[in-house]
Amino acid sequence: MNIFYDKTALSKHIKALKAKGNSVGFVPTMGALHNGHLSLIKEGFKQNEVVVVSIFVNPTQFDKKEDLVKYPRTLNADIVLLKSIADTNIIVYAPPVEDIYESKVESQSFSFDGLEYEMEGAFRDGHFDGVGTIVKRLLEIIKPDYAYFGEKDFQQLQIIKKLVELHHIPVEIVGCPIHRAEDGLAMSSRNERLTKAHREAAPFIYKTLKTAKEKFGTKSAKNISEWVESQFKEQPLLELEYFIIADTKTLNPVKQKSTKKTYRAFIAVYAGDIRLIDNIALN
Ligand code: PAF
Repeated sequence: MNIFYDKTALSKHIKALKAKGNSVGFVPTMGALHNGHLSLIKEGFKQNEVVVVSIFVNPTQFDKKEDLVKYPRTLNADIVLLKSIADTNIIVYAPPVEDIYESKVESQSFSFDGLEYEMEGAFRDGHFDGVGTIVKRLLEIIKPDYAYFGEKDFQQLQIIKKLVELHHIPVEIVGCPIHRAEDGLAMSSRNERLTKAHREAAPFIYKTLKTAKEKFGTKSAKNISEWVESQFKEQPLLELEYFIIADTKTLNPVKQKSTKKTYRAFIAVYAGDIRLIDNIALN
C-alpha cells in the first residue's frame, strides 16, 4: 500500500498510473473507517484498477469547534483495515492541514442552486462551503475517473453532483446505498463516540424512518412530521433536531405531494452530544 502525505508526490504517482491505462476511483473520508467506507471502496474496485482513499478531517466543514476537536482520529487502525481488504492497489492520501490549505484555513463560498439551504445547510452554518472546498480541492489533486459518496449524507451527495456540474470537473460521482448495523443504525464514524445507553437507543431513528415510509402512502407530510415529533418526545436519550420530507431532486420540503415526484425523509437527532443523521426513500 502506498501512503502519501504530500499532494505533489501523490499527483505524480497517479498521473503515471493513468498513463499506463489504469482507471482511478476515489473515496474521500475523514477516517475512523468502518464497513460503510469499506463498501464504498469495494464499489470503487468494481469499476477501477486503483482506488485512492483520502483520510483528512476537514476543519472548514465543522460548524462547532468542539466537534472538530473530538472527531475520532485513528489513522493507524484505518491503515490496518485498508490493508485487510486490498493491499496492493489502494493508495492512501493522509495530508496534514497545510498540504490542503497552505497558509489560509478558509472555505471558498459556493452556490449549489439552492440544494444547500435546507436541513444540514440550515442547521450547520458554513458546512457545505467547507465540504465543497475540500472535495473540489481533492478532485483537482487526484483527478479520479469516478468518486464514491454514501447516501447517508444524501444532501452532500446531491451537492457534490452539482459542484461537479457547475465547475465542469471531469469525474463521475457515484452514490452508494446506506450501510447499516444489524439493528438498523446507519454506519457513521460518530457512532464510535456514543455511550452504551445512547448506542442502544439510536436504532430508534431508523425504526421511525421505516414507519414514516409506511405512513407516506396514506398520510400527509405534515401529519407524518407531527407523528415523528411526538415519538421522539417519548425518547429521553434522543433529541430530534429536524425531520423533513423533501423532494429528492430539489431537496425542498414537500408542500403538496405529487405522484410524478420522488421524496425522501431526512432526520437529524442528538444522542447526548453526538449528532446523528439518516434518511430514507419514501416512494
Ligand atoms: O462525508 C464525509 O466524510 C466528508 O464530508 C467528506 C466528503 C470526506 C469531505 O470531508
